[in-house]
Amino acid sequence: MNTLRLNPKYSDQERREAIYNGNLLLHTASPAVTNLRNWADELISEAFGAEPQKAQYDMAVEQFVTVAGPLKSKFTNHQKTKELIRDILKEFGCDLERTYFDVPRLRVVSSDGYLTAGVGYAYKAHRDSWYGAPDCQLNWWFPIYDLDVNQTMSMYTNYWAAPIQNSSDAYNHKEWIEVGRTLAASQITTDTRKHPLPTEKVDESGEMRIVSAAAEMLVFSGSYLHATAPNTSGKTRFSIDFRTISLDDLLARKGAPNVDCKASGLDVYLKDFLLASDFSPIADEYAAPYADSARAAA
Ligand SMILES: [Fe+2]
Repeated sequence: MNTLRLNPKYSDQERREAIYNGNLLLHTASPAVTNLRNWADELISEAFGAEPQKAQYDMAVEQFVTVAGPLKSKFTNHQKTKELIRDILKEFGCDLERTYFDVPRLRVVSSDGYLTAGVGYAYKAHRDSWYGAPDCQLNWWFPIYDLDVNQTMSMYTNYWAAPIQNSSDAYNHKEWIEVGRTLAASQITTDTRKHPLPTEKVDESGEMRIVSAAAEMLVFSGSYLHATAPNTSGKTRFSIDFRTISLDDLLARKGAPNVDCKASGLDVYLKDFLLASDFSPIADEYAAPYADSARAAA
């Protein structure tokens, strides 16, 4: 059964369990999420002007990339961004001493195929686990501006418990960070990074699109099959996502069922995570047991 829960009043542990069981959670705008949304809007408007969702129509794509790239980096690496994430996790009742997050990403998804590579890559159907995420990863996602059905994400409900053939066995996160990230900024027309992808046709009969308003937070398992829906809305989509991991679940190897993932390099993937309380990086002793052999055995 697929369930979308609106504003559930979960404890942090109940939330994690609901997500490991395939629930999707949607939260209407809260003060802390609105603060992060407003901060992103400030940076976006500074970079793209008064109508950022329409800026692509007044700029050559090469110029758009030179604005979007630094904007994304500034948002991701700014200390204020981390502090606002911590506020969100506190507001949601997470134990800041046992919760890790990775720095949030600002996604810029242009309309009508204007920019689909590099900094504007539109993610095809994937599970984050194919990119090295552990089974206990939670994804947090919200738009900066109200969404249209043709500029949101696609959630593929048919594949929560069912496998799909994919190329995650060729994905190693260590290689990805060495090669992929440095390439992203230089890619405009094609994306040559080796993304893990489905190798059979995705059955789209169970596709669900959640059309949320600004600062409405969707929380879902990193193992849920999802994609960037083709943006045909006539407006660039700006959204924020970040991921969290509960240390307790990481140590206990709790999480979503692994139905088809064979990615490796999870130990390297985990090194991007910071403790919510003081932003210290995750200790090697927690990441090391997730070295390559761990996923192969799953
Ligand atoms: Fe994803």
